[in-house]
Amino acid sequence: MKNIVLIGFMGTGKSSVGKILSKKLGFKFIDVDKVIEKTTGMKISEIFSRFGEPRFRDIESEVINLITQKNRQVIATGGGVVLREENMKKLKENGVIFCLKASENVIFERLKHCKDRPLLQVENPEKRIKELLEKRKHLYEKADFCIDTEGLTPEQVTEKIIERLTDGKT
Ligand code: S3P
Repeated sequence: MKNIVLIGFMGTGKSSVGKILSKKLGFKFIDVDKVIEKTTGMKISEIFSRFGEPRFRDIESEVINLITQKNRQVIATGGGVVLREENMKKLKENGVIFCLKASENVIFERLKHCKDRPLLQVENPEKRIKELLEKRKHLYEKADFCIDTEGLTPEQVTEKIIERLTDGKT
């Protein structure tokens, strides 16, 4: 059995769903951002502020390279993992990729008080979310399956993923 990879914009529930899904499948749960924080000893926002986004992306790719060497894991990625084609190639090699989707409004409501998303620490985060979503939309669509999470609990999203995995088409 391959890895199950969750991609999608910030605030779409990748980590919450990933934890539940990994328990149900008996797979190991990997949260890429947490691995980055553990290996660097720094918070994501600190990496961004001290070294900039390009360095963060390099570390993110290094972590993707490492973790994709193993199987039977549920991998929750950071929202920007799709920006580098090499990341997606690695993840696809031994993984089924699910994209979690939510509307701009839901994402904004979920994240408006969060201080730990460096890309959204701007004057108008709502506008930034819109711009980033527009820029990345076509990249998220490269997933094997897209799941609309609107109005669903993380448990219900997990069930949808399991249905997809067991309907024989994966
Ligand atoms: C990012 C998403 C974040 C984190 C970093 C950059 C992005 O992860 O990797 O702040 O570029 O969308 P989450 O999607 O888990 O919030």
